[in-house]
Amino acid sequence: MLDSFIFVVMPYAALALMIFVTPYRYFSNRLTWTAYSTQFLERDKLFWGSVPWHFGILLVLLGHFAGVVCPHGMARLLANQQMLVLLESIGLAAGLLALLGSVMLLLRRINDGTLKRVTFCSDWVLLYLLIMQAATGIYIATFMRWGSVWYLHTAVPYFYSLLSFKPELGYVADFPLIFKLHSAGAFLILALLPFTKLVHLLFWPLAFLRDPPILYRWRSQRGNSRDF
Ligand code: HEM
Repeated sequence: MLDSFIFVVMPYAALALMIFVTPYRYFSNRLTWTAYSTQFLERDKLFWGSVPWHFGILLVLLGHFAGVVCPHGMARLLANQQMLVLLESIGLAAGLLALLGSVMLLLRRINDGTLKRVTFCSDWVLLYLLIMQAATGIYIATFMRWGSVWYLHTAVPYFYSLLSFKPELGYVADFPLIFKLHSAGAFLILALLPFTKLVHLLFWPLAFLRDPPILYRWRSQRGNSRDF
């Protein structure tokens, strides 16, 4: 019952929300399609949280996607023992970087009254969820060796079965709870994407390159103004 919920209901519900709610948000309220930057309010801790988080998680997700897009190539690559250890180490380091970054982003908001006031409930939920996702991933990578290989023979065929609308639970049903939590977390993040600031992930920021720089004008109490 729990397996069917996690591995059938959750992925399809998440996909449906992504497909229908995301364009709705784009066309009905284009201005909310943003990461709501708080760099104005605090920039130092943001740097130490945001940079490791983004570099770490992008590398980790690249590894997850490589297995889905090119399973045979990855299997050939990982058959070489040195390559396996190298790629697993890079994945683990990237995961740790993502975890440290996300914890930093959470602490930054918890410890700053001004930031707290501009943090929505969805921001808190998302931050805790991303931390849990990174932590369960690191647990799997550390204690369930060698995940990058067995992922290719279990999670990847399961994803293909989902895509062909014939979900095969047999590939994933026997895994320990931690793997199921990690998968449920992934589907939940996907489901929340169109409702939270995570939607900025779908923004291809090429148009920014053509934008003129923004001019901020600071008005002091004496009435004279300065440009930045
Ligand atoms: C259903 C979808 C997913 C499955 C089946 C899955 C599976 C796995 C597996 C098997 C590992 C261990 C890899 C290893 O031992 O090297 C792992 C690690 C990890 N996962 Fe996932 N994952 C999923 C989605 C996600 C998502 C959406 C995120 C982040 C938003 C994420 C974040 C991580 C992190 C941070 C690690 C640790 C770093 C690493 O070793 O690669 N995972 N995941």
